[in-house]
Amino acid sequence: MALKITVIGTGYLGATHAAAMAELGFEVLGLDIVPEKIELLSTGRVPMYEPGLEDLLRRHVAGIEGSTGRLRFTTSWEEVGAFGDVHFVCVNTPQKHGEYACDMSYVDSAFASLAPHLAGQALVVGKSTVPVGSAERLARLLAEQAPGDVELAWNPEFLREGFAVEDTLHPDRIVVGVGSAHAEKVLREVYATPVGEGSPFVVTDFPTAELVKTAANSFLATKISFINAMAEVCEAAGGDVVKLAEAIGHDERIGRRFLRAGVGFGGGCLPKDIRAFMARAGELGADQALTFLREVDSINMRRRGHMVELAREAVGGGSFLGKRVAVLGATFKPDSDDVRDSPALNVAGQIQLQGGQVTVYDPKGMENARRLFPTLAYADSALEAVRGADVVLHLTEWREFRELDPEVLGEVASERIVLDGRNALDPQVWRSAGWTYRAMGRPV
Ligand code: UGA
Repeated sequence: MALKITVIGTGYLGATHAAAMAELGFEVLGLDIVPEKIELLSTGRVPMYEPGLEDLLRRHVAGIEGSTGRLRFTTSWEEVGAFGDVHFVCVNTPQKHGEYACDMSYVDSAFASLAPHLAGQALVVGKSTVPVGSAERLARLLAEQAPGDVELAWNPEFLREGFAVEDTLHPDRIVVGVGSAHAEKVLREVYATPVGEGSPFVVTDFPTAELVKTAANSFLATKISFINAMAEVCEAAGGDVVKLAEAIGHDERIGRRFLRAGVGFGGGCLPKDIRAFMARAGELGADQALTFLREVDSINMRRRGHMVELAREAVGGGSFLGKRVAVLGATFKPDSDDVRDSPALNVAGQIQLQGGQVTVYDPKGMENARRLFPTLAYADSALEAVRGADVVLHLTEWREFRELDPEVLGEVASERIVLDGRNALDPQVWRSAGWTYRAMGRPV
């Protein structure tokens, strides 16, 4: 009989995983402790912007006309325990307030809530990003608190926001940390379709599986900070970091991806993952191995300050008082409405704190931005944000911004100065429309 799957936690990761499992043909029950989320999901909607996800949900959520009916949602742990053969835990692990370490309270409480309801044979699969050593501890918790024959596996997730559906259905690789051949067999059954289509299936132990995730994100963060460090040197030496990235990227050992210099990385993953990794390495007595990540983090944070300084220079070099600054972009990257640790909003907030009148526009992130930074001014369009601006900051590379007509914007701006914090606008187009175009790590 086909395996029945539950997914615990219905954020980006959980909602996408649940829908993808239904797409692969399984009966799926998703759980969240927030009833409003369950109500929304049950109508095929999600509380965030993720391309393709609502379409996928509507194909499977029970009760929606024409759906397969394979996907349902609940708030009941009892129902989840009785339903599933395989339980994926997809709750988030944010950075602890004021500390580097990650907050494991959601994971811990999910396991504690689930365990007593596991009366038969079951495989619990952790997908959350956790400090190495967590799986071993959680396996002990299950052994003590679950009445049935319950095993744990660890299966980190590598999806990118904005590509969550694609990345989940066609993963680069599937990594499973297992303690038995049985757990491996069950997970091979779950992932038979993507593995059959060519996704590599890597089987390992718990600590390695946990580390693969943090190592991958640390590598990506390092790549971005490396190119941003090169941008600093390019600026000092009069070089062009965009050309430099292109040229070094032709070496296949280096590769061209993740070498876009600019205001740096943000979001709910890379910044907190490298910090949590450093904190955990410290606990393990291996902190020296990761001191370079401190540098990766500080290069990244310096980008934001540097953009503020470029903006100050653009408005005359003194104070921001009385100056109007248009900020294009609020999300941490395009095709997402996520504003967590967003470089764009951080820069906007810093300039406002220094007396600037900042107006922000973002195609999808306005609602979340307003909630997080209620004192900033928001405009309904790029044109409105730019109206009367002394400088325009391009901080999230939405396609909409690349398609703007600088001629039209020039008519409403007070000064034609644009700072491209993502190296994504076409300098020629802006300059020929009379703008002073300045980017990060490129000649003035
Ligand atoms: C990241 C990883 O890419 C995923 O593989 C991982 O699964 C995910 O974290 C996670 O841990 O859940 P995500 O946070 O969605 O995914 O975003 P990325 O596409 O990695 O971008 C992160 C940040 O880096 C963004 O702010 C982006 O603007 C910035 N970035 C990216 C650059 O500044 N330069 C680049 O060349 C690439």
